[in-house]
Amino acid sequence: MAPILEVTNLTKRFGKTVVLRGINLSAERGTVLGVLGPNGAGKTTAINCLTTLLVPDSGEAKIAGYDVVSDPAAVRSLIGLTGQFAAVDEALTARENLVLFGRLLRLKRNAAKRRADELLAQFELSEAANRPVKTFSGGMRRRLDLAASIVVLPLVLFLDEPTTGLDPRSRQQLWAVVKDLKAQGITIVLTTQYLEEADALADRIVVIDRGQVIAEGTVDELKDKVGGRFCELRLERAADLERVKDVLDRMGLSYAQVGLNEGARAEGMAKTLAVPAADGAKTLTEIVLKLENEGIELADISLRRPSLDDVFFALTGHTT
Ligand SMILES: Nc1ncnc2c1ncn2[C@@H]1O[C@H](COP(=O)(O)OP(=O)(O)OP(=O)(O)O)[C@@H](O)[C@H]1O
Ligand SMILES: [Mg+2]
Repeated sequence: MAPILEVTNLTKRFGKTVVLRGINLSAERGTVLGVLGPNGAGKTTAINCLTTLLVPDSGEAKIAGYDVVSDPAAVRSLIGLTGQFAAVDEALTARENLVLFGRLLRLKRNAAKRRADELLAQFELSEAANRPVKTFSGGMRRRLDLAASIVVLPLVLFLDEPTTGLDPRSRQQLWAVVKDLKAQGITIVLTTQYLEEADALADRIVVIDRGQVIAEGTVDELKDKVGGRFCELRLERAADLERVKDVLDRMGLSYAQVGLNEGARAEGMAKTLAVPAADGAKTLTEIVLKLENEGIELADISLRRPSLDDVFFALTGHTT
């Protein structure tokens, strides 16, 4: 069976800025494709081209065989989109928004109301259903936005950074919804800056950097590309970071700062380093001894397989 999403050599520029430099993507029906990349990589631009909001300069994109440029109406009838920025109406209540979306999608009044209530319950918004959206928290808005994009279940659902700015619990809820939609056979294209999100949800991952695909594969394939093991060390005090880097430099070891999971992001980021450990346990032991000599305390040290963070660092020379 042909892939439900097929993108070949897609390019897009704004004035002199080339934003997409020939992107290739494909997704099989009922799978989750994770599009991963740092700020400005071109993720939203690519999604906008695929959802007919932008016209690409060259290349081809097809959804279920329909071309996004020559057959945008057909494409629109098959897709759902939760954009990076909210599409719901601030002045309306959550229920009014969902009923409105249902009506726009030509559901009968009663069917639209029934579907709205179902979705409000599914996204734990029933209690807030009759409040104007402008009183909602960021997480509630994101949930309502996602609900609005599945009022009528699409064949392909595009989610542009659906969990950015969400607390861990709201993020988990959204992940559960995505898994549920996938189980119903919906194909999902999801952009994210969070490697652990791609890890948790995506069947295949495409890594975009500066408008180009720099790697693709399953999570395991990407990790195998980097290979080897990593020694991860977490410092007791962030203030020791520079001294630790010094020690590692003197040992001739490279390192990258990690800790991109929510929460760890703020303060943990400065405290965790990943060191490629070619000699495994031997490298780990040497690091422990050297740091002990320097009087630097470790909160934790361990050996592990590469994370997607490491993959990203290995591919781009910078972290997300
Ligand atoms: N309408 C526009 N006009 C000019 N430049 C644009 C326009 N839209 C996007 N860009 C530029 O294109 C590049 C890619 O932007 P895009 O929004 O696709 O990135 P992104 O990967 O979605 O980033 P983020 O993670 O921050 O959402 C950026 O350098 C951006 O400034
Ligand atoms: Mg974006």
